[in-house]
Amino acid sequence: MCGIVGAVGAELDLASIFDGLRRLEYRGYDSAGVAIIHNGELEVAKASVARESMDVLADWLSAQSFSTGQVMLGHTRWPTHGAPTLANTHPHLDCTGDVAIVHNGIIENFRELRAELQERGHAFRSDTDSEVIAHLLEESLRGGERPADGLGRVFERLVGHMSIVVALRSYPGMLLGVRRTSPLLAATHAHQSFFASDAPAFLALAEQFYEVPEDVVVVLGDGVAGDGGALLATLEPLSIEWSSQDAVLDGFASYYEMELHQSPEAFYDTVSALMTLDHEAVVDQLSIDPYELRRIRKVVIIGCGTSYHAGLVGRYLVEHLARIPVEVDVASEYRYRDPILDADTLVIGISQSGESLETITALRECIASGARTIAITNVIGSQLSRVADGVLYTRAGPEISVASTKTHLAQIGALGMLAIYLGELKGVLYPDESKRRRRELLEMTRLLRITVQRQDDWHAMLADYLHRERFFFIGRNLLYPVAMEGALKMKELSYIAAEAYPAGELKHGPIAMLDDQAVVVALLGKDRLHDKMLSNLEEVRARGAKLIVVAVDGDTSPDDLADTVLRIPPSDALWSPLLMVVPLQELAGWMAQVRGYDLDKPRNLAKTVTVE
Ligand code: G6P
Repeated sequence: MCGIVGAVGAELDLASIFDGLRRLEYRGYDSAGVAIIHNGELEVAKASVARESMDVLADWLSAQSFSTGQVMLGHTRWPTHGAPTLANTHPHLDCTGDVAIVHNGIIENFRELRAELQERGHAFRSDTDSEVIAHLLEESLRGGERPADGLGRVFERLVGHMSIVVALRSYPGMLLGVRRTSPLLAATHAHQSFFASDAPAFLALAEQFYEVPEDVVVVLGDGVAGDGGALLATLEPLSIEWSSQDAVLDGFASYYEMELHQSPEAFYDTVSALMTLDHEAVVDQLSIDPYELRRIRKVVIIGCGTSYHAGLVGRYLVEHLARIPVEVDVASEYRYRDPILDADTLVIGISQSGESLETITALRECIASGARTIAITNVIGSQLSRVADGVLYTRAGPEISVASTKTHLAQIGALGMLAIYLGELKGVLYPDESKRRRRELLEMTRLLRITVQRQDDWHAMLADYLHRERFFFIGRNLLYPVAMEGALKMKELSYIAAEAYPAGELKHGPIAMLDDQAVVVALLGKDRLHDKMLSNLEEVRARGAKLIVVAVDGDTSPDDLADTVLRIPPSDALWSPLLMVVPLQELAGWMAQVRGYDLDKPRNLAKTVTVE
């Protein structure tokens, strides 16, 4: 969601702090702004020209007569309240121009607060919920309160999940930060201190990061009571394994393409970390007693977007390998379902970022109901990893592109490993079978490499479809979630109407939509539903729709039916989602690229969604 960067210290190099803000671009944003205190003056610059906003701000910064300052606040905005206009762009100021704030999250009671402040004569310049913070703090400071106490009292009045960073012209050596559920990290390095919503902002600036404790105002900088440095020293530093180099484009035109190509390594690193050389399970981070896991009688998997789709694949894996019934739901729905949970239920929360608010809050409620919980996340030390009883990390490295590719494959890998482990504990798989399954999963890396390298062949085959506007994705069994992911990718990247159906369901309604303008992308696995799927393809063919089939090498059965056949290597049907999803990721990316869209930052989307 919104990205926050704050820095305080004598002679801050503003360009390098701004670079930190740039590193948060991947979270998705529509406008951006900075506030700088130098020589006792507070300067604010904003830009609301979508993804070019950063360039506008960079030009502004390099045109200034100063290149250093005492404080810098930066913000990338993904709108929740108010259009992406200049007036709504952060930082927001109070009436006096002393208080500058940046905010991530939603203030649920902002309407009452705003009305109350307006009645007392405050003039609002934006439609945002955030601006009330600046005006409330203005009143506290006017009343003589110390900044940290004032912000603490203001924060108590705000309802919702959020993080806030504040700079004050009258205290130029100080920066204040506070959060509730939303992410906010702090760091100190060589007489400089930083706040940021996300670790990549810091990678080039500091070595050790700390999570700001919830509901505590942290004061960074010098000459103030309640020294934040002393507080940070009492906290456990987070271990972040990424370096700033990890996030650099490696000769690719987009992170999306680069990350798609990194999928085999992301998958391998994830899966291999969960087994010994002898293919025994390594589950030391699970911190749930195997005896308790043996008792599990129901598994619930929750997540959002692409992570949810990995969860849907996970359902088939756990049910097949461990014979435990599995429910899967989107996190934002599950939380409000009044779910039935007990100590014999295992809830798995999946989130690439580990910061999706809906997944975190849903998991917290499951914990309150007595369920055991496991997080599958790509970010070490993320909130989800700390909320859950145990963690399985995907080891995909930083994923910059908003639309996930490599982390999706790593998530399926982690779910596969968990399913095998549960199967072993439950006595469904004999030790030699579980070892064989782990070896098979690891060997999928090689097939994944072959699949990813076929993209250039596919591009030439897809030329006829590049200007089509209606796509349907169909699959059966564990290829149905893959179809859902294919449709999501198409929507996210190419803005093309795309729907996914279980192939057998097509005839119960959606088939009415098929004509010679529609394109159907069908996933034809070499599995027990292969022939039924062929009948579904006949139904499509008979309606005149264009048909792209993804099939395994050597399966000639779709050749007479399909307009185009995209080939992947054959594998065990259980692991086929890992390969089937690659041509769909590639198709959506290729369509978007040809249409001139930004693959890494699709419109209206954010990489990390920290609002409900
Ligand atoms: C956002 C992104 C999606 C992503 C989802 C879940 O909506 O736009 O691409 O799948 O968040 O993110 P998570 O970090 O929880 O996996």
